[in-house]
Amino acid sequence: MEIEIDRIRPSVVYQHLIRLIVPRPIAWVSTVSRSGLSNLAPFSFFTGVGSRPPSLLFCPANRRDGQPKDTLRNIVDTGEFVVNVVTSRMAELMNQTSAELPENESEFAAFGLTEIPSVAVRAPRVAGVPVSFECRLLELLNLESGPGAANIVVGRIQHVYVDDQVLDSQGFADPSRLDAIGRMGGGAYCRTTDLFDLPRPD
Ligand SMILES: Cc1cc2nc3c(=O)[nH]c(=O)nc-3n(C[C@H](O)[C@H](O)[C@H](O)COP(=O)(O)O)c2cc1C
Repeated sequence: MEIEIDRIRPSVVYQHLIRLIVPRPIAWVSTVSRSGLSNLAPFSFFTGVGSRPPSLLFCPANRRDGQPKDTLRNIVDTGEFVVNVVTSRMAELMNQTSAELPENESEFAAFGLTEIPSVAVRAPRVAGVPVSFECRLLELLNLESGPGAANIVVGRIQHVYVDDQVLDSQGFADPSRLDAIGRMGGGAYCRTTDLFDLPRPD
């Protein structure tokens, strides 16, 4: 099949992209609003950017009414966010936090999640995750405007928490202990338990 991408609706483009760009790690992004209410939502259009500066990006699309999602609005208002890594144990909870709640309700309270104070930013970490990246907004790119329009949030990583339990003897995260999950198409996810090694060529 050849997909003529400009001839199909954005909602169908989306259905193709989420099945073809896989597996995607999941950024479970916590923020606080201007009034201090915490917010938590998953985003799988997510990756690292580089080490100089330490940076990552994720992509919150606009809502169907054309407005930014709460996560993006909070980041624009406060300039801060935390990316938490999701384990298979927490997959169900992560999925629940993608529900659209009323603006005055926090996903932490609604789904029984515990906030842990961050070191470098006001947005909280999620208790029980193995890794949290505390970030300040570095760049925001609005690629278009209106319903479903794509936005890219680039975060400058200010501080990183890694659970000691997932560390190897050199002080780096051991992939076999992290238990991270990835998103495939539709409602499908993968675990990171089927690992193999490849030596890099010279
Ligand atoms: C696993 C998963 C990955 C998601 N990835 C994205 C994404 O990359 N971009 C996006 O805009 N929405 C994504 N969503 C949907 C958002 O989580 C959802 O719109 C959420 O309500 C946004 O919350 P907020 O308004 O509190 O920011 C994803 C949902 C799930 C369950």
